[in-house]
Amino acid sequence: MIPMVDLKLQYNNLKDEIDTNIIDALGKTQFILGPNVQTFEKEAAQHLGVKHALTCASGTDALHLALLAAGIKEGDEVITTAFTFIATAEAIRYVGATPVYVDIKADTLNIDADLIEAAITDKTRAIIPVHIFGQPADMNSIMPIANKHNLLVIEDCAQSYGAKVGSEITGGIGLAGCHSFFPSKNLGCYGDGGMVTTNDDAIAEQVKIYRNHGSSERYHHDVIGYNSRLDELQAVILRVKLKYIDNYNNERRRVAHSYSAQLKDIVTVPFEDNVGTHIYHQYTVLTEKRDAIMAALSEKNIANAIYYPIPLHKQKAFETECKNVSLPVTEDTVKHCMSLPIFPEMTEEQIKQVCDTIKSAV
Ligand SMILES: Cc1ncc(COP(=O)(O)O)c(C=O)c1O
Repeated sequence: MIPMVDLKLQYNNLKDEIDTNIIDALGKTQFILGPNVQTFEKEAAQHLGVKHALTCASGTDALHLALLAAGIKEGDEVITTAFTFIATAEAIRYVGATPVYVDIKADTLNIDADLIEAAITDKTRAIIPVHIFGQPADMNSIMPIANKHNLLVIEDCAQSYGAKVGSEITGGIGLAGCHSFFPSKNLGCYGDGGMVTTNDDAIAEQVKIYRNHGSSERYHHDVIGYNSRLDELQAVILRVKLKYIDNYNNERRRVAHSYSAQLKDIVTVPFEDNVGTHIYHQYTVLTEKRDAIMAALSEKNIANAIYYPIPLHKQKAFETECKNVSLPVTEDTVKHCMSLPIFPEMTEEQIKQVCDTIKSAV
């Protein structure tokens, strides 16, 4: 059996360190915004090279808090991609704004920067590029467009912790970056967790207030906020994993490159644009033979998945407002994309087993 991600194996490798630190945190009983949360925020900010890292309850909340902090509100339009997890658009909706979808590039599967300007109206206030599957969106084109039209950029970094564009880190390029610590993410905790990164002092201050009941001083509430704080025990786990994240990302790249060497003549392997570093949250291929490949993998007990089977503009939740939206590349991609198991500890033997199974199916 080969899972999409082997969290059991990773936990067994880290067990002594995690268990010791969890027991220590339990003994200290400072469970809300405690010392591990505060230290993790400093360590993550330093690791990413950003001024502020503010944790919260999930990646979805990170997007919501960042949009609130940026002042995005009802009547505003936010440009994004439909080839993403629904949370990207949910957060836009939470603040009363409208998601406006732009098609993706057929090779990187990231938002097509060449199509952004045509989608800008006098209501557009922000762009949310999603660094899909761990490959940075084309920030070198997106930032100049945003600056030209006076738009804010909020990066969806849920799948890109540690990925860079040149020397710049994703999450530190736009006004804010929104990270997810969902267990299967490259940097994942053992429950839900998220974080907003920013180099902007005012945004950081607002996120801090909104995540904690609109309060900067205890029992003084400046605005209606939320209860969205990272759990102290999750911070313990993240502090342990943060020490290994660079190595984890490198190992994911090793796995991906081994896959690509073996599969390049059989399926369309992920395209690395070499503008940014792809840190392979997912290893996603395109193929006309998806059904046959998935059946063969499942038969051998090898996990496989479609990220994403339905683009956001075709979701029931957005049915009415998107009935006239047409995104040909996105719509074609969802018919052919499939993701293979990828995790830092994956062995060459396991990779070969996956590749041989795929070869036998086509
Ligand atoms: C692109 C993207 N955005 C946002 C999220 C939301 O993160 P979370 O599950 O931590 O709320 C996810 C998580 O799956 C994601 O993949």
